[in-house]
Amino acid sequence: MTAGRVALVSGAGRGIGAATARILGAGGYHVVVNYLNREDAAKEVVAAIETAGGSAEPFQADVRDGAAVAAMTAHIRDTRGRLDALVCNANTAHPPFAQLDELSWETFSAKVNSELAGVFFLTQRALELMRPRKSGRIVYVSSIDADAAAGSVAQSAAKAALNTFSRHVAGHAGRSGISVNTISPGAVRTDASATVNTPELRQYLRERSVLERMLEPEDLGRVIAAFAGGSLVAATGQVITVDGGMDVLAQQISLVGERTTLD
Ligand SMILES: NC(=O)c1ccc[n+]([C@@H]2O[C@H](COP(=O)([O-])OP(=O)(O)OC[C@H]3O[C@@H](n4cnc5c(N)ncnc54)[C@H](OP(=O)(O)O)[C@@H]3O)[C@@H](O)[C@H]2O)c1
Repeated sequence: MTAGRVALVSGAGRGIGAATARILGAGGYHVVVNYLNREDAAKEVVAAIETAGGSAEPFQADVRDGAAVAAMTAHIRDTRGRLDALVCNANTAHPPFAQLDELSWETFSAKVNSELAGVFFLTQRALELMRPRKSGRIVYVSSIDADAAAGSVAQSAAKAALNTFSRHVAGHAGRSGISVNTISPGAVRTDASATVNTPELRQYLRERSVLERMLEPEDLGRVIAAFAGGSLVAATGQVITVDGGMDVLAQQISLVGERTTLD
C-alpha cells in the first residue's frame, strides 16, 4: 500500500528520470518531477502520470544550488509532510567525451563539482524529512563509466566519487531505517547519449551485450523504481550494474575468447 507516499526524482523531465517518475507514479507515489530548464518536458511527464491516474507536480530547481534544493524539499514538507523516496538522477553538466589531454580543468571540475553538489544538497535535505519517520529510500544514478578506462574521464571521476559517497550515506543513514543504493547504467538511449548513439555503438552492443541492444530509459526506470519504491530494505550500500549484460559477456569473451550461447 503506497497511498500518500511521495517520491522526488531529480532530472525527471527527460530520459531515465522521466521513465522512473512515470513508473513511480503508476505505483501510487505522488512524484515531484524536478527539472532545470525544460518546463515543457517536465509538464509532459506530469501529464502522463496524471492521465494514467497518478499524481505528480513539476518543480524547477537547480540541484547544484543548495538554496534551490532547500526550497524544493521545504515545499514537499509543507504540502505533503513526508518524503519516502529520493532518486538523484539529474545529468548535471554533462561533459564532452574527452580524454585527459583534451580537457580543461574548468570542464573537468565543473562535472565533478556539479555531480557532487547535486547529491550532497539533495541527500542532506532529504534525510531531514526521512529520519524523523525512520523510513526512506535513496537511489543514486551513477554510470558504468565509474570503473572505465575509456570514454569521458570527467564523467568517470564524478561517478566514481558518487559511488563512494553513496556507500557513506548508506552507513550514515542505515540505522534510521533508510536504505541507500546506486544504479550504474550502461548505454541508455536518451538525449544525453544521442551523440554517441551511432551504428558502430549499436553494432558493438549487439555483439557485446546479452540483451544485444542499447537500453531504453524504462529498462533503468524499472530497476531504479524497484529500489526506490520497494521493500528491498536488506540491500543497502550497493552499487548495481544495469548494462544489459555487457559486463558478463566481457568476462566470457576474455575467458573463452568468444561469445558462447546455448542456441
Ligand atoms: N544515457 C546514458 O547512456 C547514461 C549512461 C550512464 C549513466 N547515465 C546517468 O543517468 C542519469 C540521467 O541521464 P539521462 O541520459 O537520462 O539524461 P538526459 O536525458 O540528458 O536528462 C537529464 C535530466 O537532468 C536534468 N538536469 C540537468 N542538470 C540539472 C540540474 N543542475 N538540476 C536539475 N536537473 C538537471 C535535465 O533537466 P532539463 O530537462 O530541464 O534540462 C533533464 O531532466 C545521469 O546521472 C547520467 O549520468 C546515463
